[in-house]
Amino acid sequence: MTDLFSKFDPLIQQREDLLATGVTDPFSLVMEKVISPTVAICNGRETILLGTYNYMGMTFDEDVIAAGKDALDKFGAGTTGSRVLNGTYQGHKECEEALKEFYAMDHAMVFSTGYQANLGIISTIAGKGDYVILDIDSHASIYDGCAMGNAEIVAFRHNDVEALEKRLKRLPADAGKLVVLEGVYSMLGDVAPLKEMIRVSKENGAMVLIDEAHSMGFIGEHGRGVAEAQGVLDDVDFVIGTFSKSVGTVGGFCVSNHPKFEILRLVCRPYVFTASLPPSVVATAATSIRKLMHGSNKRAHLWENSKTLHKGLRDLGFTLGTDEPQSAIIAVIMPDLERGATMWEALLEEGLYVNLARPPATPANMTLLRCSLCAEHSGDQVTEILARFERAGRRVGIIG
Ligand SMILES: Cc1ncc(COP(=O)(O)O)c(C=O)c1O
Repeated sequence: MTDLFSKFDPLIQQREDLLATGVTDPFSLVMEKVISPTVAICNGRETILLGTYNYMGMTFDEDVIAAGKDALDKFGAGTTGSRVLNGTYQGHKECEEALKEFYAMDHAMVFSTGYQANLGIISTIAGKGDYVILDIDSHASIYDGCAMGNAEIVAFRHNDVEALEKRLKRLPADAGKLVVLEGVYSMLGDVAPLKEMIRVSKENGAMVLIDEAHSMGFIGEHGRGVAEAQGVLDDVDFVIGTFSKSVGTVGGFCVSNHPKFEILRLVCRPYVFTASLPPSVVATAATSIRKLMHGSNKRAHLWENSKTLHKGLRDLGFTLGTDEPQSAIIAVIMPDLERGATMWEALLEEGLYVNLARPPATPANMTLLRCSLCAEHSGDQVTEILARFERAGRRVGIIG
């Protein structure tokens, strides 16, 4: 018998080698208690959270929590069914109404996760004989959506408008084409040049899907994302998003103005063949989305936090993923996995939690300590975060 697990041996070895250096496993952290969007108890100590994607701090919003409790009382713990059978409750429709209003678009479809939204929309709308043209650094859910469908896949160099245009021009003029981009790329926190990319996509007859997972709620005047900030939202055919970041709960969605959009409810397998979100979740999501429409003060504070942290880390001598702060994600580049894991652990000992990211999730084989800021981080917390980075960085020898 061939052991089907033998393919994992190199990864098992890499993990064992890392743990043999005495470092704590960076991928098994347990949050024993969560006190607020920015503070939790980890390993028995109070820890500032700087790696949660809770950009707008909605997880503890009192209206959001009240809406969830009310729905739990009135509608029960779960729907036990698919959206197309017994799984569409009033709350799912209200959540879709909130999304339509938030984006000022005609149609909204709520999925059980953002992962499933990408899986479902990409695999369903791009079929045999069509092309999906995607940035090479796209999220796994975009790649998996491509793998599940039957379209031809064409990747282009990250954020390279010319490379996108070249690829598009090589494709048959009359073939169906879907260009898939992200507003913010979550590993380095860099923003896509959507304006130019959407222009060349349209000039070459492609439809455009933008995943705004890391920009919704924060970027753009109304928090609609990078397409809004660059003034091109009207040219986007499909926006994909998630409730697991700024919205502060779990779930995914697609919004669109396409006149035939509603047919997807019958043909999109990751929508049809899975249970819908629990009533408490859609109630929290709808309440959060409506509050995010009026979140401009929080958005301004989050930009301040992002600028302060970026400048502070750069001044301390850390190498960062972007020259300027472009989003709520600031990536600190580590020399290798071992020192990245040691620095991650040193920060945790200081009472600061960040994400350790490594290949294959990261571009160019980089090891990163990814910081994601929250609108609820106070100015004092950001100062404290920098002090902890400085102490840990000197101790580990990442900075001089
Ligand atoms: C760009 C992007 N798209 C989609 C997703 C999936 O979202 P969810 O957590 O709702 O499955 C993520 C999550 O990390 C993401 O970063």
